[in-house]
Amino acid sequence: MNINWYPGHMKKTRESIEKNLSMVDIVFELIDARIPISSRNPIIDDILGSKPRIIILNKSDLASEVGNKAWEEYFIKKNLMAVCIDALSGKGIDRLIKLSNELYEDKRQKNERRGIINRPVRVMILGIPNVGKSTLINTLARRKSAKTGNKPGITRSNQWIKTKANLELLDTPGILWPKFEDKKVGLNLAFTGAIKDEILDRESLALKLIESLAENFPNLLNYRYNVEINDKSYLQIMEEIGIKRGALLKGGEIDYTKVSNIILDEFRKGIIGRITLEFPEE
Ligand code: G4P
Repeated sequence: MNINWYPGHMKKTRESIEKNLSMVDIVFELIDARIPISSRNPIIDDILGSKPRIIILNKSDLASEVGNKAWEEYFIKKNLMAVCIDALSGKGIDRLIKLSNELYEDKRQKNERRGIINRPVRVMILGIPNVGKSTLINTLARRKSAKTGNKPGITRSNQWIKTKANLELLDTPGILWPKFEDKKVGLNLAFTGAIKDEILDRESLALKLIESLAENFPNLLNYRYNVEINDKSYLQIMEEIGIKRGALLKGGEIDYTKVSNIILDEFRKGIIGRITLEFPEE
């Protein structure tokens, strides 16, 4: 779904999130483990202030193990709780629940002293579109539905979704805007499908992806498509993949649309490999 963010939307979103923050104990900030920089909202620290939060690197099944570990360590070094999960299969969810209870412990004790006993941990889920917010809600609540759509902001009436894990989730996650200004960020968001082919046509996007993969992961590209990278141009690599995969038009010319779709789809599904596109800076 295509959304355009205007300053008015951003202001409203921020206001509704800030209003809801007072109702929750902790925040789950979801980011994409393949692009932990590009998938973060640019002013998230400002919005959340000192609210306890857990940074959740979702889709870690699509990112490299080395990348996942590096990012967890990076955030932990910054005194932030971080955990890699795969919201779809549920991997890492037990650890997330454990961390949530740890993070709530001080407040739980405080609440107990005030006579508030056995209250579940109240959580708000935040993240940019397509990062996996509804999937995580469904997995935690063990239900199938809750497609939240990608409309900016939190709008619906607030209901608590009870989970078996002693968590209560605010039913509507906060949908944040990504950073758009940076060209590289835009490309990363488009490669992973967070924004759907909005910044470039699919052929140019696929060519950019080939460039990125040929430079950083030549072996994966070679292994998946059986093409030698060497000093070929990115267009030549694309054409060779087209020939190998039978993406040809009637006259035998390359079907650039088809080969682009193959490359983008296979990258997004993790078929080319588990690939982390961004690493923490040293
Ligand atoms: P949102 O609420 O934050 O907008 O995201 P949502 O849960 O709808 O998830 C977006 C897509 O990402 C979905 O794919 C979902 O299945 C997939 N997804 C979510 N978490 C994970 C994960 O941990 N691992 C993997 N591999 N995929 C995950 P989809 O239904 O195919 O949607 P689309 O990609 O066609 O938009």
